[in-house]
Amino acid sequence: MISKGEISKIIADLVALVDEKDNSVLVADLPTLRERLNHLKSSLPKTCIHTIAIKSNPHAQMLKTLVDLGFGLEAASIEEVHLALNAGCSAERVVFDSPVKTKHEINEVARLHGMLVNVNSIEELTRFPNDPACYIGIRINPQVRTGGPDIYDVSRNESKFGVPIEHKEAIIQAALKFPVSALHMHSGSQMKNLTVQRQALECLKSLADEINSRMPGKINTLDIGGGLPTESIAEESKMSAYGAVIAEVFADSSYQIFTEFGQWVHAEAGLAISKIEYVLEKSRVYIHLGADFFMRDAYGDARSFPMQVWDEHGQEVEGVMQRFDIAGPLCFAGDYLAHGQILPHATSEGHWLSILVTGANTYGLWSRHCSRSVPKYLCWDGENLRIWSERQTINF
Ligand SMILES: Cc1ncc(COP(=O)(O)O)c(C=O)c1O
Repeated sequence: MISKGEISKIIADLVALVDEKDNSVLVADLPTLRERLNHLKSSLPKTCIHTIAIKSNPHAQMLKTLVDLGFGLEAASIEEVHLALNAGCSAERVVFDSPVKTKHEINEVARLHGMLVNVNSIEELTRFPNDPACYIGIRINPQVRTGGPDIYDVSRNESKFGVPIEHKEAIIQAALKFPVSALHMHSGSQMKNLTVQRQALECLKSLADEINSRMPGKINTLDIGGGLPTESIAEESKMSAYGAVIAEVFADSSYQIFTEFGQWVHAEAGLAISKIEYVLEKSRVYIHLGADFFMRDAYGDARSFPMQVWDEHGQEVEGVMQRFDIAGPLCFAGDYLAHGQILPHATSEGHWLSILVTGANTYGLWSRHCSRSVPKYLCWDGENLRIWSERQTINF
């Protein structure tokens, strides 16, 4: 994760890149991003192809950075397919997972040589031409509970995602009948229970084995999705534990494994910085990022983000600490980023508030409510700060 020394330098360098309109900025932290991608690669079997979920951070420069570092991209909509191709990703490194693909979209991607397109239902298979240039996978609902929050859990029985594994024979028949060469699953985000996830992987593999026993070589690719919550990297990380599970489950097979991590890769690799506009009643801090940037947190369960206060020269404000509520700028009562956040008593108007671990599911969920502008996006390379994109007004 980024060090306090680096944040201090970023704040001190901000002055050269912002003007009076820049009441907040978003920062991509490239050293942390690289460290996480390396940890992902070294934790999982070397032959895996890692595609990173675009929805977690769709900034064009971020996608280009990932592609330049040798990663593929997972697209959840046709628009994200276009973002991936525009970022220079070759079609063979793009996975297309939209659950509601139109006939028009299917015709478009079916012409893209080597793209993995995962269907959400058996019905969707009938919309493909007989000889597509793309590879087709069937998304399976493994019907497991890996312990993630309900709204991100896509593997319950009533899930709208994938064909339930209980319809095993129908899946096998469809795989044999159509030009299917892959099986896909994504158990849901923020999964906690790797033992349950292991069972889901085993199910996926045994289904592929069974299809291959009826038609040898039919399934050659297994896409196991993403879903790990963010964590600081340690030798005993959840990612390395998951990597060991994957290595064991697929030890005696030659399936090409694809992954689709999002949050685990991005969350720690981004920070947001807002001017503190007001401190009222000595306990309420008003900043310039609220439910527009922290959509999931304001409308659902707020994640707990590490925060620090800085003066304009990049000196950390310290001293006696106290609790503050952190209010966002939107005009509705629930627009709070945190309640009871511990910050220095000396926190005041004109200081900067740094908010860490904001790289995933924030910028990509930007809400237009109150029509506030999307902040300038900066990139920190460990030594220098540069602009990735300018502050943007919202177009309705
Ligand atoms: C199909 C699919 N793959 C991958 C992801 C990324 O999940 P995560 O950010 O939890 O790794 C998602 C997230 O919604 C998804 O729907």
